[in-house]
Amino acid sequence: MRSQHISMTIEEFELMPRKLWWKYEYWDGQAHISPRHYAVTTSVEIRPRPIEIPCKLRTVEQKDKPQLISGYIAAFKDSIEYCDWAAEKITTSAREAIQDFFAGKRGKPLPSSRLAVVSQLGIGSELVIGAALLVEKANQVSLLDILFVIPEWQRQGVATALASAAVNELYHVGVKTLKSRYLLGNNESRAWHQKFGFVEEPDLALARLYCYHAKHELWRLEKIGNLTEMKRVALLSEIDQWQARVAELEKIEDLM
Ligand SMILES: CC(C)(COP(=O)(O)OP(=O)(O)OC[C@H]1O[C@@H](n2cnc3c(N)ncnc32)[C@H](O)[C@@H]1OP(=O)(O)O)[C@@H](O)C(=O)NCCC(=O)NCCS
Repeated sequence: MRSQHISMTIEEFELMPRKLWWKYEYWDGQAHISPRHYAVTTSVEIRPRPIEIPCKLRTVEQKDKPQLISGYIAAFKDSIEYCDWAAEKITTSAREAIQDFFAGKRGKPLPSSRLAVVSQLGIGSELVIGAALLVEKANQVSLLDILFVIPEWQRQGVATALASAAVNELYHVGVKTLKSRYLLGNNESRAWHQKFGFVEEPDLALARLYCYHAKHELWRLEKIGNLTEMKRVALLSEIDQWQARVAELEKIEDLM
Protein backbone atom coordinates (compact mmCIF):
# COMPACT_ATOMS: atom_id res chain seq x y z
CA MET A 1 0.00 0.00 0.00
CA ARG A 2 1.28 3.45 -0.95
CA SER A 3 0.50 7.05 0.01
CA GLN A 4 -0.66 9.24 -2.85
CA HIS A 5 0.82 12.52 -4.05
CA ILE A 6 -1.43 14.12 -6.66
CA SER A 7 -0.90 17.46 -8.41
CA MET A 8 -3.97 19.73 -8.13
CA THR A 9 -5.07 23.21 -7.13
CA ILE A 10 -5.93 24.02 -3.52
CA GLU A 11 -9.58 24.46 -4.61
CA GLU A 12 -9.64 20.96 -6.10
CA PHE A 13 -7.97 19.64 -2.95
CA GLU A 14 -10.63 21.11 -0.69
CA LEU A 15 -13.41 19.54 -2.72
CA MET A 16 -11.99 16.04 -3.12
CA PRO A 17 -13.88 13.18 -1.41
CA ARG A 18 -12.22 12.03 1.81
CA LYS A 19 -11.92 8.79 3.68
CA LEU A 20 -11.86 9.05 7.44
CA TRP A 21 -8.78 6.88 7.84
CA TRP A 22 -6.52 8.87 5.49
CA LYS A 23 -4.80 12.18 6.27
CA TYR A 24 -5.26 14.85 3.62
CA GLU A 25 -2.52 17.49 3.42
CA TYR A 26 -1.61 20.01 0.76
CA TRP A 27 1.70 21.58 -0.08
CA ASP A 28 3.77 22.49 -3.17
CA GLY A 29 0.77 22.18 -5.49
CA GLN A 30 0.09 18.58 -4.48
CA ALA A 31 -2.41 16.69 -2.35
CA HIS A 32 -0.56 14.33 -0.01
CA ILE A 33 -2.76 11.47 1.13
CA SER A 34 -1.29 9.16 3.73
CA PRO A 35 -2.64 6.80 6.42
CA ARG A 36 -3.96 8.26 9.64
CA HIS A 37 -2.32 5.82 12.04
CA TYR A 38 -5.08 5.90 14.61
CA ALA A 39 -5.59 2.81 16.77
CA VAL A 40 -9.15 1.98 17.77
CA THR A 41 -9.47 0.15 21.10
CA THR A 42 -12.22 -2.43 21.36
CA SER A 43 -13.33 -5.02 23.86
CA VAL A 44 -15.48 -8.13 23.92
CA GLU A 45 -17.11 -9.95 26.79
CA ILE A 46 -15.65 -13.38 27.45
CA ARG A 47 -18.20 -16.16 27.08
CA PRO A 48 -17.88 -19.71 25.77
CA ARG A 49 -17.79 -19.89 21.98
CA PRO A 50 -18.41 -22.75 19.59
CA ILE A 51 -15.35 -23.53 17.48
CA GLU A 52 -15.72 -24.47 13.86
CA ILE A 53 -12.24 -25.57 12.90
CA PRO A 54 -11.12 -25.50 9.28
CA CYS A 55 -7.62 -26.57 10.44
CA LYS A 56 -5.74 -27.74 13.53
CA LEU A 57 -5.34 -25.34 16.46
CA ARG A 58 -2.60 -25.64 19.06
CA THR A 59 -0.61 -23.68 21.62
CA VAL A 60 2.38 -21.54 20.68
CA GLU A 61 5.97 -22.67 21.16
CA GLN A 62 9.40 -21.04 20.79
CA LYS A 63 10.11 -23.27 17.79
CA ASP A 64 7.26 -21.57 15.93
CA LYS A 65 9.11 -18.23 15.74
CA PRO A 66 10.37 -18.52 12.11
CA GLN A 67 6.95 -19.49 10.75
CA LEU A 68 5.24 -16.84 12.88
CA ILE A 69 7.54 -14.24 11.35
CA SER A 70 6.95 -15.39 7.78
CA GLY A 71 3.19 -15.67 8.35
CA TYR A 72 3.11 -12.19 9.88
CA ILE A 73 4.91 -10.77 6.85
CA ALA A 74 2.59 -12.54 4.38
CA ALA A 75 -0.51 -11.29 6.21
CA PHE A 76 0.56 -7.73 6.97
CA LYS A 77 2.78 -6.70 4.06
CA ASP A 78 0.00 -5.03 2.07
CA SER A 79 -1.86 -3.65 5.08
CA ILE A 80 -2.26 -0.01 6.04
CA GLU A 81 0.06 -0.66 9.03
CA TYR A 82 2.96 -0.93 6.59
CA CYS A 83 1.89 1.61 3.98
CA ASP A 84 5.04 2.98 2.24
CA TRP A 85 7.36 0.58 4.09
CA ALA A 86 10.22 -1.09 2.21
CA ALA A 87 10.19 -4.92 2.25
CA GLU A 88 13.33 -5.18 4.44
CA LYS A 89 11.85 -2.85 7.04
CA ILE A 90 8.65 -4.92 7.17
CA THR A 91 10.75 -8.05 7.76
CA THR A 92 12.64 -6.34 10.58
CA SER A 93 9.41 -5.13 12.15
CA ALA A 94 7.85 -8.62 11.90
CA ARG A 95 10.91 -10.17 13.56
CA GLU A 96 10.78 -7.60 16.35
CA ALA A 97 7.05 -8.07 16.92
CA ILE A 98 7.35 -11.85 17.27
CA GLN A 99 10.59 -11.77 19.27
CA ASP A 100 9.17 -9.11 21.60
CA PHE A 101 6.06 -11.24 22.09
CA PHE A 102 8.13 -14.23 23.25
CA ALA A 103 10.42 -11.99 25.33
CA GLY A 104 7.41 -10.52 27.17
CA LYS A 105 8.16 -6.99 25.96
CA ARG A 106 4.60 -6.49 24.66
CA GLY A 107 3.09 -7.78 27.92
CA LYS A 108 3.14 -11.20 29.56
CA PRO A 109 2.51 -13.81 26.84
CA LEU A 110 -0.67 -15.74 27.66
CA PRO A 111 -1.00 -19.53 27.33
CA SER A 112 -4.38 -18.94 25.67
CA SER A 113 -2.50 -17.82 22.53
CA ARG A 114 -3.21 -20.14 19.63
CA LEU A 115 -1.74 -21.15 16.28
CA ALA A 116 -3.63 -22.49 13.29
CA VAL A 117 -1.67 -25.14 11.40
CA VAL A 118 -2.12 -27.51 8.48
CA SER A 119 0.09 -30.44 7.57
CA GLN A 120 2.21 -30.00 4.47
CA LEU A 121 1.61 -32.97 2.22
CA GLY A 122 4.72 -34.94 1.35
CA ILE A 123 6.95 -33.05 3.82
CA GLY A 124 5.26 -34.27 6.97
CA SER A 125 5.74 -30.89 8.67
CA GLU A 126 3.26 -28.27 9.82
CA LEU A 127 2.56 -24.97 8.11
CA VAL A 128 1.46 -22.11 10.35
CA ILE A 129 -1.46 -20.41 8.61
CA GLY A 130 -2.54 -18.05 11.36
CA ALA A 131 -2.02 -16.94 14.92
CA ALA A 132 -3.79 -15.22 17.79
CA LEU A 133 -1.13 -14.05 20.23
CA LEU A 134 -2.44 -12.75 23.52
CA VAL A 135 -0.67 -10.86 26.27
CA GLU A 136 -1.54 -9.64 29.72
CA LYS A 137 -0.93 -5.91 30.09
CA ALA A 138 -0.72 -3.87 33.29
CA ASN A 139 -3.80 -4.12 35.58
CA GLN A 140 -4.35 -7.69 34.34
CA VAL A 141 -5.88 -6.54 31.06
CA SER A 142 -5.94 -9.39 28.51
CA LEU A 143 -5.13 -8.13 25.03
CA LEU A 144 -5.41 -9.83 21.65
CA ASP A 145 -2.02 -8.46 20.69
CA ILE A 146 -1.28 -9.99 17.28
CA LEU A 147 -3.82 -11.61 15.00
CA PHE A 148 -3.21 -12.75 11.46
CA VAL A 149 -4.13 -15.36 8.87
CA ILE A 150 -2.04 -15.84 5.73
CA PRO A 151 -3.84 -14.62 2.57
CA GLU A 152 -4.44 -18.11 1.09
CA TRP A 153 -6.46 -19.06 4.20
CA GLN A 154 -8.41 -15.87 4.80
CA ARG A 155 -12.24 -15.77 4.88
CA GLN A 156 -12.47 -19.42 5.95
CA GLY A 157 -13.13 -18.87 9.62
CA VAL A 158 -9.52 -19.33 10.76
CA ALA A 159 -9.21 -16.06 12.75
CA THR A 160 -12.63 -16.70 14.30
CA ALA A 161 -11.60 -20.21 15.34
CA LEU A 162 -8.28 -18.94 16.75
CA ALA A 163 -9.88 -16.15 18.77
CA SER A 164 -12.73 -18.42 19.92
CA ALA A 165 -10.24 -20.99 21.21
CA ALA A 166 -8.31 -18.25 23.03
CA VAL A 167 -11.54 -16.82 24.50
CA ASN A 168 -12.65 -20.28 25.73
CA GLU A 169 -9.31 -20.70 27.48
CA LEU A 170 -9.65 -17.26 29.11
CA TYR A 171 -13.19 -18.16 30.21
CA HIS A 172 -11.87 -21.19 32.10
CA VAL A 173 -9.42 -19.05 34.07
CA GLY A 174 -12.08 -16.47 34.95
CA VAL A 175 -11.15 -13.59 32.61
CA LYS A 176 -14.19 -11.38 31.91
CA THR A 177 -13.07 -9.14 29.03
CA LEU A 178 -10.67 -9.31 26.11
CA LYS A 179 -9.35 -6.12 24.54
CA SER A 180 -7.98 -5.62 21.06
CA ARG A 181 -6.82 -2.77 18.85
CA TYR A 182 -6.90 -2.17 15.14
CA LEU A 183 -5.92 0.69 12.89
CA LEU A 184 -8.83 2.83 11.75
CA GLY A 185 -7.96 2.17 8.11
CA ASN A 186 -7.59 -1.60 8.40
CA ASN A 187 -11.01 -2.41 6.96
CA GLU A 188 -10.56 -6.20 7.07
CA SER A 189 -9.57 -6.07 10.71
CA ARG A 190 -12.41 -3.69 11.60
CA ALA A 191 -14.94 -5.97 9.84
CA TRP A 192 -13.52 -9.02 11.58
CA HIS A 193 -13.60 -7.38 15.03
CA GLN A 194 -17.20 -6.25 14.55
CA LYS A 195 -18.30 -9.71 13.38
CA PHE A 196 -16.61 -11.34 16.37
CA GLY A 197 -18.49 -9.00 18.72
CA PHE A 198 -15.78 -6.52 19.67
CA VAL A 199 -17.22 -3.09 20.53
CA GLU A 200 -15.34 0.22 20.22
CA GLU A 201 -14.44 1.74 23.56
CA PRO A 202 -15.51 5.36 24.20
CA ASP A 203 -12.97 7.59 22.46
CA LEU A 204 -13.36 11.36 22.45
CA ALA A 205 -10.74 12.02 19.77
CA LEU A 206 -12.35 9.45 17.48
CA ALA A 207 -15.86 10.85 18.08
CA ARG A 208 -14.55 14.33 17.16
CA LEU A 209 -12.98 12.89 14.04
CA TYR A 210 -16.22 11.19 12.92
CA CYS A 211 -18.08 14.45 13.60
CA TYR A 212 -15.60 16.58 11.64
CA HIS A 213 -15.68 14.08 8.78
CA ALA A 214 -19.49 14.21 8.49
CA LYS A 215 -19.47 18.04 8.64
CA HIS A 216 -16.81 18.25 5.93
CA GLU A 217 -18.77 15.88 3.70
CA LEU A 218 -21.93 18.00 4.13
CA TRP A 219 -19.98 21.16 3.24
CA ARG A 220 -18.26 19.46 0.28
CA LEU A 221 -21.42 18.01 -1.28
CA GLU A 222 -23.20 21.37 -0.89
CA LYS A 223 -20.27 23.19 -2.49
CA ILE A 224 -20.15 20.89 -5.55
CA GLY A 225 -23.96 21.00 -5.87
CA ASN A 226 -24.35 17.29 -5.24
CA LEU A 227 -26.28 17.29 -1.97
CA THR A 228 -29.59 15.49 -2.33
CA GLU A 229 -32.27 16.06 0.32
CA MET A 230 -31.90 12.46 1.48
CA LYS A 231 -28.14 12.85 1.87
CA ARG A 232 -28.56 16.17 3.73
CA VAL A 233 -30.96 14.59 6.24
CA ALA A 234 -28.67 11.58 6.71
CA LEU A 235 -25.56 13.71 7.24
CA LEU A 236 -27.31 16.15 9.60
CA SER A 237 -28.53 13.24 11.70
CA GLU A 238 -25.03 11.74 11.71
CA ILE A 239 -23.58 15.09 12.82
CA ASP A 240 -26.20 15.38 15.60
CA GLN A 241 -25.35 11.91 16.86
CA TRP A 242 -21.61 12.57 16.89
CA GLN A 243 -22.05 15.99 18.51
CA ALA A 244 -24.10 14.39 21.29
CA ARG A 245 -21.46 11.68 21.70
CA VAL A 246 -18.67 14.29 21.84
CA ALA A 247 -20.56 16.31 24.48
CA GLU A 248 -21.16 13.14 26.53
CA LEU A 249 -17.49 12.11 26.36
CA GLU A 250 -16.29 15.64 27.16
CA LYS A 251 -18.42 15.57 30.32
CA ILE A 252 -16.88 12.25 31.34
CA GLU A 253 -13.40 13.63 30.64
CA ASP A 254 -14.11 16.73 32.77
CA LEU A 255 -15.07 14.50 35.69
CA MET A 256 -11.79 12.58 35.50
C1 LIG B 1 -8.27 -9.71 9.78
C2 LIG B 1 -7.94 -11.18 9.54
C3 LIG B 1 -7.16 -11.71 10.73
C4 LIG B 1 -9.25 -11.98 9.39
O1 LIG B 1 -8.92 -13.37 9.28
P1 LIG B 1 -9.90 -14.42 8.58
O2 LIG B 1 -9.49 -15.79 8.98
O3 LIG B 1 -9.96 -14.14 7.14
O4 LIG B 1 -11.29 -14.05 9.25
P2 LIG B 1 -12.59 -14.99 9.35
O5 LIG B 1 -12.64 -15.94 8.20
O6 LIG B 1 -12.65 -15.58 10.72
O7 LIG B 1 -13.74 -13.89 9.18
C5 LIG B 1 -14.90 -13.82 9.99
C6 LIG B 1 -15.75 -12.65 9.53
O8 LIG B 1 -15.04 -11.41 9.67
C7 LIG B 1 -15.39 -10.53 8.58
N1 LIG B 1 -14.22 -10.37 7.68
C8 LIG B 1 -13.04 -10.99 7.76
N2 LIG B 1 -12.23 -10.58 6.76
C9 LIG B 1 -12.93 -9.68 6.03
C10 LIG B 1 -12.63 -8.92 4.87
N3 LIG B 1 -11.45 -9.02 4.23
N4 LIG B 1 -13.58 -8.10 4.38
C11 LIG B 1 -14.78 -8.00 4.99
N5 LIG B 1 -15.13 -8.70 6.10
C12 LIG B 1 -14.20 -9.54 6.61
C13 LIG B 1 -16.50 -11.23 7.83
O9 LIG B 1 -17.71 -10.87 8.44
C14 LIG B 1 -16.16 -12.69 8.10
O10 LIG B 1 -17.28 -13.54 7.96
P3 LIG B 1 -17.70 -14.09 6.48
O11 LIG B 1 -16.44 -14.56 5.81
O12 LIG B 1 -18.68 -15.18 6.80
O13 LIG B 1 -18.31 -12.90 5.77
C15 LIG B 1 -7.12 -11.37 8.20
O14 LIG B 1 -7.78 -10.67 7.17
C16 LIG B 1 -5.69 -10.87 8.30
O15 LIG B 1 -4.80 -11.58 8.75
N6 LIG B 1 -5.44 -9.62 7.82
C17 LIG B 1 -4.09 -9.05 7.77
C18 LIG B 1 -3.50 -8.85 9.17
C19 LIG B 1 -4.43 -8.02 10.05
O16 LIG B 1 -4.94 -6.99 9.63
N7 LIG B 1 -4.60 -8.49 11.30
C20 LIG B 1 -5.45 -7.81 12.27
C21 LIG B 1 -4.70 -6.69 12.87
S1 LIG B 1 -5.57 -5.95 14.21
